[in-house]
Amino acid sequence: MKNLKSRILLASAACALMLGAFSVPALINAKPAANTQLADWPKITSPFAKNAAQEAQIAQMVASMSLRQKIGQMTQAEIKAITPDEVRQYYIGSVLNGGGSWPKMNKNSSIKDWVDLADAYYDASIATDLKSPIPVIWGIDAVHGNNNVKGATIYPHNINLGAARNPQLVGEIAAATAKSVRATGINWAFAPTLAVVQDQRWGRTYESYSVDPQLVRKYGEVFVRSMQGEFKKDTNVIASAKHFLGDGGTFNGIDQGENRSSLSELINTHGQGYYGALGAGAQTVMITYNSWSPAKSATNNGKMHGVTELVTGALKEKMGFDGFVISDWNAIEQVQGCTKSHCPQAINAGNDMIMVPEDWKAFIDNTEKDVLEGRIPMSRIDDAVTRILRVKMRAGIFGNRPSSSSVAGVESAISNRPLARRAVRESLVLLKNNNSVLPLSRGKRILVVGTAADTMAKQTGGWTVTWQGDEITNADIPNGDTLLAAIRAESGSRNVTYSATGADVNVRNFDVVIAVMGEKPYAEMKGDIRPPETMRYSDRYPADAAAIAAVSGKGVPVVTVLYSGRTLYSNPMLNKSDAFVAAFLPGTEAKGITDVLFKNARGQIRYDFKGKLPFSWPSNACPPAANVAQANYRPLFNYGYGLNYQTRRNIAQLPLDSRTSCPNPQ
Ligand code: BGC
Ligand code: BGC
Repeated sequence: MKNLKSRILLASAACALMLGAFSVPALINAKPAANTQLADWPKITSPFAKNAAQEAQIAQMVASMSLRQKIGQMTQAEIKAITPDEVRQYYIGSVLNGGGSWPKMNKNSSIKDWVDLADAYYDASIATDLKSPIPVIWGIDAVHGNNNVKGATIYPHNINLGAARNPQLVGEIAAATAKSVRATGINWAFAPTLAVVQDQRWGRTYESYSVDPQLVRKYGEVFVRSMQGEFKKDTNVIASAKHFLGDGGTFNGIDQGENRSSLSELINTHGQGYYGALGAGAQTVMITYNSWSPAKSATNNGKMHGVTELVTGALKEKMGFDGFVISDWNAIEQVQGCTKSHCPQAINAGNDMIMVPEDWKAFIDNTEKDVLEGRIPMSRIDDAVTRILRVKMRAGIFGNRPSSSSVAGVESAISNRPLARRAVRESLVLLKNNNSVLPLSRGKRILVVGTAADTMAKQTGGWTVTWQGDEITNADIPNGDTLLAAIRAESGSRNVTYSATGADVNVRNFDVVIAVMGEKPYAEMKGDIRPPETMRYSDRYPADAAAIAAVSGKGVPVVTVLYSGRTLYSNPMLNKSDAFVAAFLPGTEAKGITDVLFKNARGQIRYDFKGKLPFSWPSNACPPAANVAQANYRPLFNYGYGLNYQTRRNIAQLPLDSRTSCPNPQ
């Protein structure tokens, strides 16, 4: 074992030397330079100044409400578990649909079905006996387009946008997503995710823009500004900065796990996205499932939903956030001493609206008792309701039926395929291009292998139509092109042969092979790679490894395109490929890939590669948690790496790490 380890270390040092020939940008250690270190949470100025008349009106409304009416406003229930009439009866403040939940539990719901249900909830909410009725708001996970809705354009996941290094593009996607959400009658999106992911084993890595806190900060700002647009248009929606705080910093990348950061690391690394988002006026913040227990301290603060110091102290008091805090799905039950339907600790810590998808009735009863018996002060309830009303007023929810938006029910408003295609083009990272195999000229005989070539779900990833993005077929994502379809469109069907395995064809009959590899879709909870599992792609997808093995070494160049939600150890596949493109999770528009891979009919390059790695690329199967250069470890490709057609360099065969399991640090 010892021998093996030193062999790997030697090998990775040799490979670092070999790559030394490149001019790779400086490493990002996920920490700003020492002189920019903040000592405390900064005060953030939001573009929404408090409006005295509006505040007075809100105070009057709150004063006229009964306790149960107030608690109703603080309650968010799932559309599967609440009818419009119950929204009326219980004065419910908000509904949501979870990932893979649709009107009438029908994934083929039309956008009219969505708008009709939104109108029904809205109408019910203003039919209560309240003196001044309060309209309900509906929240949805629109995290790469309006992704629960059949037919909507699915944009690349955030990891791709991180690779694109283009804030303006992020703004355009945020605005297009908001419009797509309003087309379905909904006015609140649970986005953007501002995680600054440290360990790419985490199954939500693709929801993160980057390991670079400053890039996350910039993107958080433009995303929120473009999505909310200060609510000047009826195509804007409320944004939700999530998940506060430290979701990207859990130990071993375990979902909902333990964040062991110091306060300073929270302030300087994980907090940065919020400085951008709140500075742009984000009106809601969603709390994270993880806990906080600084490694160098004896204090275990427990789950974040119960951490007053951060939810109230840092976010509301020091940063000055005056919108409302929403808890995550059933997350209150993870606070010590709480259940799904009862958690005074979370409300006292500063959660204003509670996502209690199913057990909302019991929650209302329990919370009422908490107030009556003195476990929650009435002032806390009044503050929560004040914040919720403030956001509803600022966002123009009052007096605007969902169907009154100019885009409600408008089919074309849920798609913007050219924008998504551009985002794909800009986010591809070229890792290897020996002998300038790419770009390809027209008229070649092409063999395409790998199941990912024609499986939309692998291209779009988690949070697509369903929660995990699985259990769907290409027919569930009708508007878009798989890469196979895009290659056929580009080269003419008669020049393209598809073989999923590559085993049943004579490779020598072709000019080039395009191997399309892809992780199966996954989302939170199910997507983690947990030690002792390795980060070697080919262990996890042996069929893909076999397909590449079947076509390589035959004298025909192999171009590999990899779909993945994170950077992965891929030396075996890199060695078998002449060119290698990290496409992450590009979404519905694979023509953005062929735009870059193929020359035009006159033999000219149309679009060059622009993408740069948003996370470094591992050089062995068991990379350290922070996949950056450190004692005895160098990533294969650093943060910021990415070739283009101007770079003419060959990458020699890379050393192989034969470990089949990884140590499990505690
Ligand atoms: C996720 C959130 C999401 C919510 C509603 C949670 O499990 O962590 O990101 O917004 O569910 O679907
Ligand atoms: C929901 C998701 C939610 C998850 C959390 C799923 O059933 O559809 O939206 O995030 O549960 O456990």
